[in-house]
Amino acid sequence: MKYLIYTVLLFSFLVACKQTVKTPVKEKHRGLMTQKAMVVSARIEASKIGNDILKKGGNAFDAMVATELALAVAFPFAGNLGGGGFMVYRQANGETGAIDYREKAPMAATKNMYLDKNGNVIPEKSTLGALAIGVPGTVAGVFEVHKKLGSLPMETILNPVIALAKKGVLVTEKQAKSLAHYQPLFKKVNKDSILFNTHWKANDTIKYNSLAETLERILKEGKDGFYKGETAKTLAKFIQDNGGLITEEDLANYEAKWRDPISFNYDDLKIISMSPPSSGGVCLAQIMKMIEPFPIDDYGHNSEKTIQVITEAERRAYADRSFYLGDPDFVNIPIKTLIKEDYLGGRMNDFSFEKATLSNDVSHGNMTIIESDETTHYSIVDQFGNAISATTTLNGAYGSKLYCAELGFFLNNEMDDFSSKPGEPNMFGLIGAEANSIAPQKRMLSSMTPTIVEKNGKLFMSVGTPGGSTIITSVLQTILNVHEFDMSMQEAVNAPRFHHQWLPDEIRMEPNAFDKTIIENLKKRGYSINQKDSPIIGKVDGILVLEDNTLEGGADYRGDDTAVGF
Ligand code: DON
Repeated sequence: MKYLIYTVLLFSFLVACKQTVKTPVKEKHRGLMTQKAMVVSARIEASKIGNDILKKGGNAFDAMVATELALAVAFPFAGNLGGGGFMVYRQANGETGAIDYREKAPMAATKNMYLDKNGNVIPEKSTLGALAIGVPGTVAGVFEVHKKLGSLPMETILNPVIALAKKGVLVTEKQAKSLAHYQPLFKKVNKDSILFNTHWKANDTIKYNSLAETLERILKEGKDGFYKGETAKTLAKFIQDNGGLITEEDLANYEAKWRDPISFNYDDLKIISMSPPSSGGVCLAQIMKMIEPFPIDDYGHNSEKTIQVITEAERRAYADRSFYLGDPDFVNIPIKTLIKEDYLGGRMNDFSFEKATLSNDVSHGNMTIIESDETTHYSIVDQFGNAISATTTLNGAYGSKLYCAELGFFLNNEMDDFSSKPGEPNMFGLIGAEANSIAPQKRMLSSMTPTIVEKNGKLFMSVGTPGGSTIITSVLQTILNVHEFDMSMQEAVNAPRFHHQWLPDEIRMEPNAFDKTIIENLKKRGYSINQKDSPIIGKVDGILVLEDNTLEGGADYRGDDTAVGF
């Protein structure tokens, strides 16, 4: 009996000790939390307009149209009428889909249009000015989304956007710096003085009257208010007067396309992301599938081993990207094989923790079966349970820098996303091949990765980012931060990021954000580390659905990004 009492006492003591020594659950730093709906975008004005549409009873697709066009007003850096993008969605009933409103090469484009007579790439020809412009897709994209999935009248959606353009938008500190930085290029590219040649300071208000007029025409005439009639005439003439190729016929022929998104599983998650002509979904699938067998949660967030595994998977995926991926309407892409586990397992066979694989020793995988500074991202979840994830771009900051004053918007320089010459890097250092060569009406390969994640069959996350070639790896790390490293949405967005893209053979890291010893150890294993060229690796925006269905926004502090919801 005495022993029994001692044993019970000892057991109770041990249980009590276990309870007291149990590590306390770390309080998470959360972003905005709301119960029903949320919009996270690069500017508060755009998030508010999208959110107001939801409050009026609109769904995520109505809010997508409003947010996309509000960004064209409030965030001329990347928001656009003169660019293009992609949107992935998941409806409340679980149905998923994607729309491609990516720019296209004009009909007069030719394979070697950016090369001199010796076959060398002419600097800036594909990045600055009218020859860099692809046929814009944004207006076609939003009208297609509205036609298929919207619920409110276009007038209700567009009126607040037009009102914002007329009332004007406050200049933020970050925007004032960015405008000042790019002003010399605006002056170089534009024959006449443009709105942005003024020395705008923080807290000034910029009014966008010509843009408001263009939007009014679009409201009145629908998609044709951009692709036909007065706008198209003015735009084609303006581009040609500046030496570009786009004709009224190019504009009239543009159509957005519904695509099947890329879907794959990772642990208990289902990831739904953008398919070609974006490389985002395929690369994300490849990287995640190569990482999946490794217990990176045990290795730890941004630990040496985790960085190695992710880097080596990224290296191999980007090598495949450069060889296989392009516009699916023009090239045959073996998508199923590229994201198959047995193919990807083989790709990591030569990886060892001892030593970096050299990119020179990595080429695209072989397969025997061939199957027949700018962008912006926003995420929306509505009160009905629909979610969208959309990334839209002019490519470089303010695109080609060519601004059509009469219509009130910048034009993209998306043509640089083509591979001007096999093996020559584009502005993001990405190398391409035949699959992404220029052809009339072809869409240039993208890295944009608007992504939706399900967990156990329920909506879990909507996420995406700008960042050129670093988009895919930033989306990847954000998902892993939540899933593997138990971070909140906001913590996952805030965490320092790194990136490898096969070539150049280096790991780009956000400066001063990684452990010095880990960096030294990686160098010893043969990794080259670059902390200089990437002050910002993406500006991730996302929404996480917590277990009790509360929504948490993650808005990237690296920009002016803001979550608004109710
Ligand atoms: O489609 C693409 O991959 C590029 N045009 C995206 C450009 C971008 O993200 C620039 N932002 N930093």
